[in-house]
Amino acid sequence: MAESAEIILDGKSYPFPVIEGTEHEKAIDIAKLRDLTGYVTLDSGYKNTGATKSAITFLDGEEGILRYRGYPIEQLAEQSSFIEVAYLLIYGKLPTQAELDDFSHQITKHTLVHEDVRKIFDGFPSAAHPMAILSSLICSLTAFYPESVAPDLSKEEIDLNVIRLMAKISTIAAWTYKNNMGHPLNYPRNDLDYCSNFLYMMFSFPTEKYEIDPRIVSALNKLLILHADHEQNCSTSTVRLVGSANASLYGSVSAGINALWGPLHGGANQEVLEMLQAIQKDGGDTSKFIAKAKDKNDSFRLMGFGHRVYKNFDPRAKIIKKAADEVLAALGIDDPLLKIAQELEQAALTDEYFIERKLYPNVDFYSGIIYRAIGIPTEMFTVMFALGRLPGWIAQWKEMRENKEPIGRPRQIYTGETERNYVGIDQR
Ligand code: CMC
Repeated sequence: MAESAEIILDGKSYPFPVIEGTEHEKAIDIAKLRDLTGYVTLDSGYKNTGATKSAITFLDGEEGILRYRGYPIEQLAEQSSFIEVAYLLIYGKLPTQAELDDFSHQITKHTLVHEDVRKIFDGFPSAAHPMAILSSLICSLTAFYPESVAPDLSKEEIDLNVIRLMAKISTIAAWTYKNNMGHPLNYPRNDLDYCSNFLYMMFSFPTEKYEIDPRIVSALNKLLILHADHEQNCSTSTVRLVGSANASLYGSVSAGINALWGPLHGGANQEVLEMLQAIQKDGGDTSKFIAKAKDKNDSFRLMGFGHRVYKNFDPRAKIIKKAADEVLAALGIDDPLLKIAQELEQAALTDEYFIERKLYPNVDFYSGIIYRAIGIPTEMFTVMFALGRLPGWIAQWKEMRENKEPIGRPRQIYTGETERNYVGIDQR
């Protein structure tokens, strides 16, 4: 590896240190660039910019590798539970049995939300998108726990906010659905594990007992694990940026939820299913839609394809594809959308346009099929993503605080008018 980088500007050379991560990722440390040279860097979309040093998640987009705290995603998805992975991400190590029991117990104890939060639901239109409600209500927790905005919270106080957020998001998420359906809300049950309790709150009715299916619990655990962190993506960077101003954990995560909702980010999972339904409604000719995606005069994109960092394959998509087959087979579901998805994937993977641009199915491509199979309605898909991503957001927020990172404040290259004098309205 080079010992330093040299930048030559106006005939003068400036050396900059080069740093290397534990997985040999290399970076030029330009912290002093502007002070020394008067120049800044410009990198639209941050395609080449490392925003932080982080010890949480490693991903190699070229090799299709994803690891949380060093543990391969494949092993975690197969052998761990969502709550164990949440602990791993947030506290940096796999918990002992006692630590896991205590963490699960703490979360279970805090799943009730203040009755006044319930009242806020009444103010939303019944057709409101669940992501709009989720982000608002997560932000509203700052109002219920005003001490959470203090910039100098102790470790115990931060832990309490972490537990509250992990616990209450599942209740609020399930209630967004119930509210949307006009159904009575279910209160959490302390005798159930995290995923079972969420399914119970989503699907139980006072008139009908909901039988918790262990196959569905297992599929949900897997999906949440696969979404749990993904280093410095759009929503996580948002959480860190908002948090860097010493905003509360709830406010920072609420901002992340809004970023995730975008159709180019987590909102893509809803878009994928709607796209598959549109193809089905149109007669099922996938080649027509492949042609549309390639047409530069058509704004249509193949949702669930392509990724900013994965340029070989998305390891999460591989696991989800297999899980989709297993879940559908186990539940005896024959979903015609799965067939369309498979056809689309096959066509795209053999098409020059997609090969050239390294566009592969991403995590969102098959997740919707599983969500649909386990009864989650399409509008809730991105809420499910948020539920899964929460431990990652928390871990990244906490790391940013513990590392005492400075407030995030990018520079710009101004391209507007230079100074000019104000002109009265009658002279314009
Ligand atoms: N369908 C058709 N063409 C595409 C697609 C697609 N899904 N994705 C990228 N391209 C083309 C794009 O038109 C461009 O072509 P050209 O070089 O001829 O102009 C080229 O591929 C590079 O695209 P880009 O937009 O510069 O790539 P990016 O890294 O900025 O964007 C992306 C990545 C994920 C936003 C994009 O691939 C996309 O819009 N995919 C569909 C939405 C989606 O599935 N998002 C979920 C991402 S995974 C989960 C998550 O992170 O939340």
